[in-house]
Amino acid sequence: MSTKQTIAIIGATGNMGSAIAKSLSKTNNRLLLFARHFDKVQALVEEIKKGNASAEAEAVECPTNASWEADIIILALPYADEKEIAAKIKDVANQKILISISNPLNETYSALVTAADTSAGEQLQQLLPNSKVVKAFNTVFAADFANTIIDGKQVDTLIAGNDTQALETVSELARSIDLNPLVAGELPWSRTLENMALLLIQFTMKYNYNWVAGWKVLHN
Ligand SMILES: NC(=O)c1ccc[n+]([C@@H]2O[C@H](COP(=O)([O-])OP(=O)(O)OC[C@H]3O[C@@H](n4cnc5c(N)ncnc54)[C@H](OP(=O)(O)O)[C@@H]3O)[C@@H](O)[C@H]2O)c1
Repeated sequence: MSTKQTIAIIGATGNMGSAIAKSLSKTNNRLLLFARHFDKVQALVEEIKKGNASAEAEAVECPTNASWEADIIILALPYADEKEIAAKIKDVANQKILISISNPLNETYSALVTAADTSAGEQLQQLLPNSKVVKAFNTVFAADFANTIIDGKQVDTLIAGNDTQALETVSELARSIDLNPLVAGELPWSRTLENMALLLIQFTMKYNYNWVAGWKVLHN
């Protein structure tokens, strides 16, 4: 069993935050969950505990406190809200792993709003220069977390970051929730990963995948 981590999820009640929280609640980690509507966070904690009484999940009323206590922070927020939260957690996120799952999509999901020479992952690293930003889970749809096998194959989660140890820790976390981690490289690979999420969304809308789809690298 992997080392027990305290993991803060900021934006825990959203599609992704709640899906990741439910998956992680089945591992041996401790979860600190935050979103602005505290009643919804409490309801999520209740739902998690109903399914698994021994799950360690707590609703926390402040993102700074949740991040202060955490070893790993997952930002499960819309891209547009990351800057505000980054400012709130900057001091307490020093040297910690910060997982960036966001896709900076435009309103119609037809393009990214970021320039080609950057990415949401890299922008987050600039906002939090002393944290170890790792891009992960952005190419996985929320619904995939409940069943990571699609068409008989385990969904890959593509990962990028500059800190080797942090990449290994996040890969281990991905394995613990039955995803197959594939490390692409350093953080600028986030540009490709965010474009791959955009492409998956395009395929999903075009071919009616019903938001259950993922990337799989086939190999021998
Ligand atoms: N949905 C997917 O399948 C999917 C897949 C891959 C990546 N992503 C990425 O994951 C991120 C989250 O997507 P989502 O679909 O889960 O969004 P969502 O359902 O809208 O959830 C957003 C979460 O963030 C919280 N939140 C929003 N603004 C906030 C703020 N300013 N401060 C603190 N909390 C705030 C919301 O709760 P409160 O309003 O109560 O605060 C909610 O818990 C996005 O960046 C998206 O691109 C999504």
